[in-house]
Amino acid sequence: MPSIEHLLERNRAWAAAVEASRPGFFRRLAAQQTPKYLWIGCADSRVPANEVIDLDPGEVFVHRNVANVVVHTDFNCLAVLQYAVDVLKVEHVMVVGHYGCGGIKAALEDSAHGLIDNWLAHVQDVASRHAALLDRLASRDDKADLLCELNVVEQVANLARTTIVQDAWRRGHPVELHGLIYGLVDGRLKDLGIGVASAAEAAQRYPAAIEAKRGWKR
Ligand code: CO
Repeated sequence: MPSIEHLLERNRAWAAAVEASRPGFFRRLAAQQTPKYLWIGCADSRVPANEVIDLDPGEVFVHRNVANVVVHTDFNCLAVLQYAVDVLKVEHVMVVGHYGCGGIKAALEDSAHGLIDNWLAHVQDVASRHAALLDRLASRDDKADLLCELNVVEQVANLARTTIVQDAWRRGHPVELHGLIYGLVDGRLKDLGIGVASAAEAAQRYPAAIEAKRGWKR
């Protein structure tokens, strides 16, 4: 039977190395987590939250799903968001898409992939809404990359409309939403410039962000 013993060995070595370089690290962390950030990203194995932003355990609260989607009725994502905002009092919530996303590409295809197609229908909704922007691009890769960006814009807009974020803003809790995209080929994160910190700002920023995609070039 295939074993995962090698993973446990790696874990033992890692824990020992961290403890050796920073004695008491785990004990301190066990007592309390105080992350300032919530990362909502893709489940893709190439986009691990902590590594990409070079943060230690304890510094970023994480929710990942295929194609980094924020669905209004997804209680998994909403529970993470609510706990992060209301209890942990994170200051920044970032939706992190990535170019070359398999989920985004699959959403653009006609072929069937099984149950996941139901989840990716949310991304297809984004593609339908912005068909005019996508149709002007000839290359399939360009369409996919633009859809990766549009999907982040839409998910940030969805975040802004959740009762959790709306209530936080109403009671003056300063939580900022951000839209980022990660390049698999260079390891770089790009800020899509759609950060918002209030309902008014969110209402204003969304149409401008979509409008800005009109002359989109890779
Ligand atoms: Co992906």
